[in-house]
Amino acid sequence: MMSPMPATAPTPLILLGGGGHALVVAEAATLAGFTLAGFLDDDAAAVLSRGTPSCPHLDPFSELEGHAERGCILAIGDLRTRRSLIARLGPAAHLLSVIHPAASISPAASIGRGVYIGPRAVVHTRAAIADHAIINSGAIVEHECRIGENVHIAPGSVVGGRAVIGPDSLIGLGARLLPGVTIGRACTIGAGATVIRPVVDNARVAGTPAQPL
Ligand SMILES: CC(C)(COP(=O)(O)OP(=O)(O)OC[C@H]1O[C@@H](n2cnc3c(N)ncnc32)[C@H](O)[C@@H]1OP(=O)(O)O)[C@@H](O)C(=O)NCCC(=O)NCCS
Repeated sequence: MMSPMPATAPTPLILLGGGGHALVVAEAATLAGFTLAGFLDDDAAAVLSRGTPSCPHLDPFSELEGHAERGCILAIGDLRTRRSLIARLGPAAHLLSVIHPAASISPAASIGRGVYIGPRAVVHTRAAIADHAIINSGAIVEHECRIGENVHIAPGSVVGGRAVIGPDSLIGLGARLLPGVTIGRACTIGAGATVIRPVVDNARVAGTPAQPL
């Protein structure tokens, strides 16, 4: 395992979103060697503009297309909003991944584009992380897992080896997925859940063992 050294971005980074998750991504990006060009949000006075003066508000999301070609990452937490923005990112979008320097990433893992990986997160050997996924603070993604596009693994969650998670799913804070479990697309796994069986598309489950809500 290794902790990636700070990398210098080829272009300044534009954050798509300016709320709480953007604050987290902005800090990780700065620590990883990026300079911040600014952020897009429909709220010009979003959290990020108040906490990070060096990251100005550029435009509302209606102006996404031109900015996305300069180098960007989704920095908004809500998965549906993220999905609607992804639908508008054309093939020319220049997606940059932000990996906190305190994350631990196996050299045999594959990391997609526009991915955020937080501090103390672990992505183990041969895991595959698709575009726009969030592996949040302290989350553990074990060997050979497949994490779909726009999945959010919330802080402190543990995904056992060879588990497969479909796109647009949320694995809530501190949840545990047993090795080899499969989660469908657009699922919500409640905070603290222990998932021991497959979860079908669009399901919401919680508890130990996890049951449909
Ligand atoms: C599971 C979850 C999606 C349910 O949200 P909701 O639809 O608003 O549900 P409610 O709060 O109305 O609760 C519905 C029922 O489920 C129970 N419940 C809610 N969350 C639960 C959880 N995580 N574990 C066990 N039971 C839970 C409630 O106690 C309630 O039970 P009741 O009907 O017997 O009173 C939500 O509670 C959750 O855990 N979200 C994950 C959030 C998260 O981790 N985000 C990442 C941030 S970085």
